[in-house]
Amino acid sequence: MSMPRIALIPGDGIGREVVAEAEKVLRALRLDLELVRWPHGADHFLKTGVSITDAEVAELEREYDAILLGALGDSRVPSNVHARDILLGLRFQLDLYINFRPVRLLDGRLTPLRDKKETDIDFVIFRENTEGVYVGMGGTFKRGTPDEVAIQEDVNTRKGVERIIRAAFEFARAQEIPRITLSDKANAMEHAGGLWRRTFAEVGTEYPEIEPEALYVDMLAMDLVRRPERYRVIVTGNLFGDILSDLGAQLAGGLGLAASANVHPGRTSLFEPVHGSAPDIAGRGIANPFGAILSSALMLGHLGFPDEQERVEIAVRRAVQAREATPDLGGSLSTAAAGQAVCRYLSEGALSP
Ligand code: NAD
Ligand code: IPM
Ligand code: MN
Repeated sequence: MSMPRIALIPGDGIGREVVAEAEKVLRALRLDLELVRWPHGADHFLKTGVSITDAEVAELEREYDAILLGALGDSRVPSNVHARDILLGLRFQLDLYINFRPVRLLDGRLTPLRDKKETDIDFVIFRENTEGVYVGMGGTFKRGTPDEVAIQEDVNTRKGVERIIRAAFEFARAQEIPRITLSDKANAMEHAGGLWRRTFAEVGTEYPEIEPEALYVDMLAMDLVRRPERYRVIVTGNLFGDILSDLGAQLAGGLGLAASANVHPGRTSLFEPVHGSAPDIAGRGIANPFGAILSSALMLGHLGFPDEQERVEIAVRRAVQAREATPDLGGSLSTAAAGQAVCRYLSEGALSP
């Protein structure tokens, strides 16, 4: 790859604050990366009336290797249309079918679960990212009347289901993880559930060393709290993956730490913290930048810099363990100081590997 080109889309609210810190960390690595800021978000939408154009999406696809996004969501755009256009638009149009969301406890003191240690909370969610109820198919009828009807279709295709399931199995094989958990609601949603379960069983025969188990999502939500240590790889649909990833984030210390990758292998992919624009704390300089920094670490891995990915992950873990962190993690640092702490651990790591 020639010099990788990365689009930074800080977006709204704390998205801007946390992406600034991720950018500092990326620059501190002194890699040959070209970082280009994009203005998209609520301000840009309110000013221009445009969330993102098809030509801009095409440019991202053609001329960039990755996108690092902060968050989208602003009370001045109550319909949330710009967020859907940009975030879901990029996921769909770039066909980023894998939403990879690792849940890893970096410091045992951070979990709300009693008697759980770091190794007990260490799983990844493979969330299907291009289908499900997110596709926006449906509509309303007799809107605003007592007889209003609202339909939101749940789209599941064999191709879409198979490719995310296969990605999860491939990951488990590469990591030598002995079991994969499929999560669905096949008892109530038989058509979608049937497709997911049949596909899971079929693909599973190609990976005889991995035990496939299928669990209903309500039961899994309960069991992730009861005995998270049982789980290593979870594969699920778009909506359940969204919900389980916030649950997982809290098990590991909160949304501020949770990272994600929206990937189509070999194509321009999108990296973003799991959290949103957090209007309740935006502008106060207390947002935790570690989720965004860990997302940029996932991006480094995707761009072919696994050593740098690991260095950043280690630096964040050191900062977390030293409580050189924002208040949500029990620290007293500002967003900028927490980002600075990671840069410092990075440079110390460079001196003594
Ligand atoms: P949120 O993730 O923004 O916030 C939930 C809670 O977690 C808040 O109390 C917030 O203060 C806290 N929090 C989140 N990130 C934090 C961080 N880095 N450091 C410290 N605390 C943090 O979820 P929400 O309130 O449901 O959504 C707010 C807006 O963000 C909405 O418009 C929503 O649609 C949007 N959203 C966007 C994305 C995205 O762009 N990827 C993701 C989720 C929500
Ligand atoms: C996430 C967010 C988005 C989602 C919203 C903002 C549409 O919650 O990335 O987890 O549901 O995918
Ligand atoms: Mn979410």
